[in-house]
Amino acid sequence: MKKRLLPLLAALLAALGCARAAAPAVIDIRTDGLSLVLCANDDGTVVLRHFGGRIDDVAPFAAYRTHRRWDHGADDEIYPAAGGRNFRLPALRATHADGDPNTELRYVAHEVLPTGDDNVTQTVVRLTDRRQPLDVELLFTAYAREDVITVRSRITNREEGPVVLHAYYASALTLHGHDSYLLTQLRGGWADEAQVEHLRLAHGTHSISTRKLVKATHSENPAFMLSLDSDRFDERHGEVIAGALAWSGNYRIDFSIDEYDVLTVLAGANPDGAAYTLDARKTLATPEMIYTYSAEGAGRASRNLHDWARRYGIRGGKRGHVPTLLNSWEGAYFSFDEKTLCGMIDDAAEMGLEMFVLDDGWFGNKYPRDHDRAGLGDWEVNAKKLPGGIDRIASYAHERGLKFGIWIEPEMVNPQSELAERHPDWVVRADGREATQIRNQWLLDMANPAVQDFVFGVFDRTLALSKKIDYIKWDANRHAEAFGSKYLPADRQSNFWVDYAEGLRKVMERIRAKYPDVLIQACSSGGGRVEYGALKYFDEVWTSDDTEALSRARIQYGTSLFYPAAVIGAHVSASPNHQSGNVIPIKFRFDMAATGRLGMELQPRQMSDAERDFARRAIASYKEFRDLVEEGDLYRIGSPYDPSGTFATMYVSKDRRRAVVMAYCIRYRGHTPVPQFRLEGLDTATHYKVRELNVDHARCWFDGEVLTGAFLHHEGLNPPLQRLYDSAVYLLEAQ
Ligand code: GLA
Repeated sequence: MKKRLLPLLAALLAALGCARAAAPAVIDIRTDGLSLVLCANDDGTVVLRHFGGRIDDVAPFAAYRTHRRWDHGADDEIYPAAGGRNFRLPALRATHADGDPNTELRYVAHEVLPTGDDNVTQTVVRLTDRRQPLDVELLFTAYAREDVITVRSRITNREEGPVVLHAYYASALTLHGHDSYLLTQLRGGWADEAQVEHLRLAHGTHSISTRKLVKATHSENPAFMLSLDSDRFDERHGEVIAGALAWSGNYRIDFSIDEYDVLTVLAGANPDGAAYTLDARKTLATPEMIYTYSAEGAGRASRNLHDWARRYGIRGGKRGHVPTLLNSWEGAYFSFDEKTLCGMIDDAAEMGLEMFVLDDGWFGNKYPRDHDRAGLGDWEVNAKKLPGGIDRIASYAHERGLKFGIWIEPEMVNPQSELAERHPDWVVRADGREATQIRNQWLLDMANPAVQDFVFGVFDRTLALSKKIDYIKWDANRHAEAFGSKYLPADRQSNFWVDYAEGLRKVMERIRAKYPDVLIQACSSGGGRVEYGALKYFDEVWTSDDTEALSRARIQYGTSLFYPAAVIGAHVSASPNHQSGNVIPIKFRFDMAATGRLGMELQPRQMSDAERDFARRAIASYKEFRDLVEEGDLYRIGSPYDPSGTFATMYVSKDRRRAVVMAYCIRYRGHTPVPQFRLEGLDTATHYKVRELNVDHARCWFDGEVLTGAFLHHEGLNPPLQRLYDSAVYLLEAQ
């Protein structure tokens, strides 16, 4: 009883503008290696005192003072609002119902919530404005073994009328006491995703952001690493903080260093052009920001995120192997009939693949989907191409021992479609202005519940086409622009950006409630939806439309910084490659795809006999070690950016008894230099037998040798990779 009254009393006092009531001074949130320490100041502000290596004795923080002049700006608030003394970028900026543009959040209460998982603790911190009945709840979830803390916020309007939120971030993190911050981020474009950039943060503000809403993560990914006190990105050494935002919408992460050298990281939905009107008695839930900390360089930060993702973050994270597959896109594009598809299924089965995925082109009758200019939105089977329906193809796949998957793009519509004729009001467009087309298509307005029902219905009806559909590839091939929602009232138009993302989330919730076991891939012109908001519902991502193995070296490396291999779709495609025109040996193509979820995407009939023989062998060997790719610890040995032109990727089983090392040469530098890869993650005292896979005979002195973990770590392996596209795969097994 007493426990429940205290927060109420505190809320009352805070609402009256009084000093905080009996607030505990220190709020201690921790994992095995990370501490996040909050303090409630005398004036009721809640400040972040520490985010970094674990501190067991947090009592001194009660007396901690910054020694900064109190009249020179606000302290390091955990959720800085625009108002009072705060001149930093605010996590929350609101215009209250009565027009007041100030918010000063004060402590109300905090509570540790039960989770039912002894690895997970949840702490909620409740704040309210000094004057207005506007509340903020910060929810911190700490994952002990993974050294991950996630943060999300809930903003509740208890005022008499609507409040306009001009900024509503998920979290704010202040860091101090470091000489420098090296930011690592991913940039790119279509077919060029996840390119790694490093920059030293300077005073002022730098942002990672998008306003594209859909197909958003090509250009910038909402994830980052900060190497502390170092100008060097280091896989093995130094303190690193990594963050990733879970939000399938517009995002922004701001890094702002002020005159006190305090770095504030704000992360959340991008408020730019997206002021959100929050009606009275409504709550806005922000996205979740995921943080981890490593005292052992970037490698450990990635492994923490991967562990967290596999255990808690990804819808399919707890399931068994994901099938190797043949996807029809680059093999058939829009031109196929039952014979083509059954032939591909036969070939896939013969090579040892485990699933066939029918990509774009199977639907539309009045406007057949024979190209990308028509049919999108009309999700009935094209009777000319597939007279026996989807069930005939899916059944054939199952008869041949393969699972079956199918492509949909339910958020989109071609102007040339029956859907566009029936529901012009569902299209995102501004009255009296051009509805822009991208890839000849429009975006449907997911802020509209009728569209949400339709999109759910597309998924539902597609699965009803056959009982043998095991997998859905969900595509989204354009971004939002020239926006306008027929559903939202004129004074709520800028709610569109949040409401679209929320609409998608609601649909995915419904889909997962009804179809918990169907595998779903998030594709968006390749890697346009690679983020943890999508991964909560999708099992994997299509990493890039660039299937060329050389480009994939950087794309998959960059993606691996934040996302586990278990979600990284990687396909072997034809040579010359359809995107780059590059000619690459089949072995290199397979060895590169094997660092992720292996698939193929070509017309097998166009492969030579030698290529097919190799494919059979490589698919079989992948099955031997894929548990390591899916569940093991990733160690990046060098990088595809290294001037040496060689690098390796290794995965080690959790018990350190098995490992796979995949090594590549991506630049010819004459025949003198030979790479030397010092391996990581092994047990120094264990003896490992080294076996090269995907070759006919031994190519190096250590093939078949038994070497200690100490040898492999301190001396390493020196595979003879000297020519462009030389590659090698070694399996290490404890003896
Ligand atoms: C997008 C996807 C591709 C393929 C095509 C089909 O570009 O990224 O993988 O599915 O659409 O139109």
